[in-house]
Amino acid sequence: MSSSIECRYSKVRWNSKLCHLSRMVFICFFLAQILNADAALSADEGNVLQILQETILLPNWTGNPCDEAWINCSSTNPQHVLQLNLAGKNLTGAIPPDISRLRGISIIDFNNNQLNGSIPDIRNLTNLTKLWIGTNNLTGEIHESIFHLGNLTEIDLRNNQLNGTIPKALENMTRTITYINVKSNLLVGSAPNISALVNLQQLDISSNGLTGPFPDITFNKQLIGLSLANNFLRGPVPPSVIQNPKLNWIFMSNNSLDPGPLFDITQLTGLRTLSAGRSRFQGAIPSLGNNTVLTEFTVPVNNFSSIPLDWRNVTSLTILNVASNIITGNLPMLPEYSTQTSIFGLRLALQKIDFSNNSFTGVIPKSWGGLSFLEEMNLAYNRLEGPIPPEIGRLNQLKTLNLSNNQFSGRIPDDFRYLSKLQILDLRNNQLTGPVPDLFNNLSSLHSLYLDNNSFSCIPKTLAMKQGINITFQGIRSAYCDNGQESLSRGGIIGVAVGGFCAFIAILALMFLIVRRKRKICSHQLSKEDMPKSAKAFSIKEIKTMTENFKQPVGKGGFGSVYYGKLPNGKEVAVKVKAADSKQGVKEFLNEVQLLSRVHHKNLVPLIGYCLDGQEQILVYEYMSQGALHDHLHHPPESSSTSTRQGAGGFVSSRHCSLDWKTRLDIVLNAARGLEYLHKDCKPPVIHRDVKSSNVLLTEKLQAKFGDLGISKQAYEPDTDETMNTTGISTAVQGTWGYMDPEYFTRHKLTVKSDVFSFGVILLEIITGKRAQTQKFPDSEAVTLKQWVEEALEENKLKSVIDPRLRDEYSEEGMLMVVNVAMKCLLPNGVGRPDMGDIVYTLLQALQREKESRTRTSEILDEITIPASAQLTGQHNVEHSVLSPVSSVQPNSSLTMSPR
Ligand SMILES: *[C@@H]1O[C@H](CO)[C@@H](O)[C@H](O)[C@H]1NC(C)=O
Ligand SMILES: *[C@@H]1O[C@H](CO)[C@@H](O)[C@H](O)[C@H]1NC(C)=O
Ligand SMILES: *[C@@H]1O[C@H](CO)[C@@H](O)[C@H](O)[C@H]1NC(C)=O
Ligand SMILES: *[C@@H]1O[C@H](CO)[C@@H](O)[C@H](O)[C@H]1NC(C)=O
Ligand SMILES: *[C@@H]1O[C@H](CO)[C@@H](O)[C@H](O)[C@H]1NC(C)=O
Ligand SMILES: *[C@@H]1O[C@H](CO)[C@@H](O)[C@H](O)[C@H]1NC(C)=O
Ligand SMILES: *[C@@H]1O[C@H](CO)[C@@H](O)[C@H](O)[C@H]1NC(C)=O
Ligand SMILES: *[C@@H]1O[C@H](CO)[C@@H](O)[C@H](O)[C@H]1NC(C)=O
Repeated sequence: MSSSIECRYSKVRWNSKLCHLSRMVFICFFLAQILNADAALSADEGNVLQILQETILLPNWTGNPCDEAWINCSSTNPQHVLQLNLAGKNLTGAIPPDISRLRGISIIDFNNNQLNGSIPDIRNLTNLTKLWIGTNNLTGEIHESIFHLGNLTEIDLRNNQLNGTIPKALENMTRTITYINVKSNLLVGSAPNISALVNLQQLDISSNGLTGPFPDITFNKQLIGLSLANNFLRGPVPPSVIQNPKLNWIFMSNNSLDPGPLFDITQLTGLRTLSAGRSRFQGAIPSLGNNTVLTEFTVPVNNFSSIPLDWRNVTSLTILNVASNIITGNLPMLPEYSTQTSIFGLRLALQKIDFSNNSFTGVIPKSWGGLSFLEEMNLAYNRLEGPIPPEIGRLNQLKTLNLSNNQFSGRIPDDFRYLSKLQILDLRNNQLTGPVPDLFNNLSSLHSLYLDNNSFSCIPKTLAMKQGINITFQGIRSAYCDNGQESLSRGGIIGVAVGGFCAFIAILALMFLIVRRKRKICSHQLSKEDMPKSAKAFSIKEIKTMTENFKQPVGKGGFGSVYYGKLPNGKEVAVKVKAADSKQGVKEFLNEVQLLSRVHHKNLVPLIGYCLDGQEQILVYEYMSQGALHDHLHHPPESSSTSTRQGAGGFVSSRHCSLDWKTRLDIVLNAARGLEYLHKDCKPPVIHRDVKSSNVLLTEKLQAKFGDLGISKQAYEPDTDETMNTTGISTAVQGTWGYMDPEYFTRHKLTVKSDVFSFGVILLEIITGKRAQTQKFPDSEAVTLKQWVEEALEENKLKSVIDPRLRDEYSEEGMLMVVNVAMKCLLPNGVGRPDMGDIVYTLLQALQREKESRTRTSEILDEITIPASAQLTGQHNVEHSVLSPVSSVQPNSSLTMSPR
């Protein structure tokens, strides 16, 4: 700082006034002397900093705050604050309006703190150029005053809880603004009109609740990045998108755009990232023309039907994801790694490819062995065939390889021994043969190996028994390879043959007869096509063995009883036996077997096998040890001491407690994904028709899977989503009272939206904790759960219907999102209801809010033990006795649950 300070600093008004007051000449002189020694912050701004320190916990200072590293002051005398660089400094509390007295400030950087409250009126900070308060806990609306600051270039308010709309005043900011980021807030209303912001370089409004059309960017010729993902934007993508040659990245997944072809990306020669999942694009993925910088092309869950066959010129590509489209034809040629490939000094190579859930045919190109830097390859759920090329074993950077659910044949190549970084290998549901090689024993990174439902002859015992790796190999007939014998058989069978030959033949013949007999028993009335490869046919004898003669019933339904069982390999199963008087006929039975053998999803209960023997119709499912969501929500909780009975308890597990909100969200999210798969990824879509909380089954770790697809129906092949939503199948009404879509019930119109309606009822169940078919609701004439909640919403008393067992421990924003989407699911008219994808998305967001609110409060919760409030318990019991008038309600049950 300069030491020759005189009164020429009179341009600072405070000082000049003093100096022109003749009576204060002396004082001025005196002050000037002091300032000569050491410049000081203006008194008023010093006060403001003091206030800031007290209110938002600025770091402490001694002496002149301008000397601190986090502040930058003018070299005038007195000094003025020019910058506050306080990112990640644990600021908390609300920003006081006094900040607007730091008139000369040009940069406010409060990113990554815990500031809350709303943004104050800062219209007087006319010199402000950068306002960064991202990743805090701000609430309320974005203060309009920001958009009147004519020198502002950058606004970063991402990751807060700002609500309301994006102020219209934004449209008047013409000259200076280059960067706007309001990602991940709670903003609603139309996406902003940015036509006037001619200098705008980056706009990120993603992950809000914005509606209206995709913004017009005709005039934003400086635009480099545009992120609109995760909103509810509608309509077509405006043609102006391709008139912005500088566009580098576009993120636009998860909106509600009109179906149509992808815009002509060949015009966007500078495009590096296109992320446009779930955007209803259809037709061909165009070839990329002259684009030589494209690095990420991510377009999953669209309706693309073809893909260019040669991508070898796109040498900059690092991620190519076209999962869940309807692409047919062969897999494309991909750019191999070459040392020349370098953009902006970075050497690029393909790292991740995802072609899963399409209808690709043919073989894996051998040339893919040149993708030396590939880390992830997913080809699951296609119609690929032929042997796995040994060249794949050269991809020594590969961490995940998923080839499941294709028709690959032949042996696992020996070259797989070079996949030293491989962590996950999924080969399920193919036609691979030969013994499972023991090379997997030597892959030190491998932690998950799925081999089920192939035609492997055997598995090395060492591998099957290997610790620390998650391995499944259902369907391998003679369990273990005898290593010695295998090497002998390779050397020549003659040596062994002499003595053992006859015995060997005899055993073979016997086995053949047994197999024949088994087939005969269990394939009764099934034609060859009816015999799905992935579902195993069991004999009634095997069923009796696995259930110890139907010893342990674990559930009962309209169809009959469910028994606990154990396969010879130790796997636990649920064995569902049709009752003699069941209405479910052979048709439904076959439907379920066929369907379940065709659909595979981690959120659908997998069918392991079946037995059809005379009158007996038996299905063998994976055992879901935690029973149904319905039981957890609607059975009285028991004290945790009984949890030791778990495991034996089966479907009606003893470990029911009412589940906290995050767990409930997690469960319905997984259930929603199962349904989404049936609706979206099965062609034609599958309508479950019996969506209810008792069909949402839970694994030991409370992972949800939908069960009971017995009456599900395949929709007729639709032309587009629209015809599926409006036409629908006429069919005899089936389903469960309380969950049934009124449109389906009254007009026999069955669409995927009927499942959506029923799912809405499940959402209300997790919100309220009430049964779908309760006879009576507290303080209400309502006869359905939907009516009851509607009433409460109309009277603005939402809180009165929220399950008191949640004890107000949930993020309100998240709760509101779920209530909103539930009510949309329950709209009388199917067309207006969201689809399962929208619901999955909303639930993800709600879960995100819940996680955020937990990480924010977890420290506090860890320290404070929540007192068991007597009042709360009282309410709980009153509520509970209305809820489930079952005798065994334990009065203080909720208190035995530990607060998270
Ligand atoms: C800052 O000063 C306040 C009192 O002025 C004191 O309570 C606080 O502990 C100090 N913080 C640090 C980090 O020194
Ligand atoms: C913020 O607080 C956390 C814990 O309270 C502490 O670990 C961290 O060092 C603090 N950060 C700063 C920049 O003071
Ligand atoms: C804003 O900045 C200009 C030039 O940097 C300066 O002359 C002016 O005094 C500043 N305004 C305020 C209110 O401090
Ligand atoms: C802005 O400054 C003017 C004049 O100094 C003052 O009257 C007004 O209250 C200030 N407004 C805000 C919101 O700080
Ligand atoms: C921008 O800052 C200058 C001083 O640097 C100031 O004079 C001008 O009023 C500001 N512009 C607006 C529109 O506030
Ligand atoms: C915005 O949030 C605040 C609380 O943070 C609330 O008082 C206000 O009503 C909300 N406004 C809108 C439009 O949702
Ligand atoms: C934009 O500026 C014009 C002219 O200055 C003014 O009339 C209009 O109200 C402003 N719009 C908003 C939303 O501030
Ligand atoms: C963040 O804001 C929410 C809503 O205003 C509040 O409930 C929560 O406690 C805040 N968290 C922190 C860490 O300040």
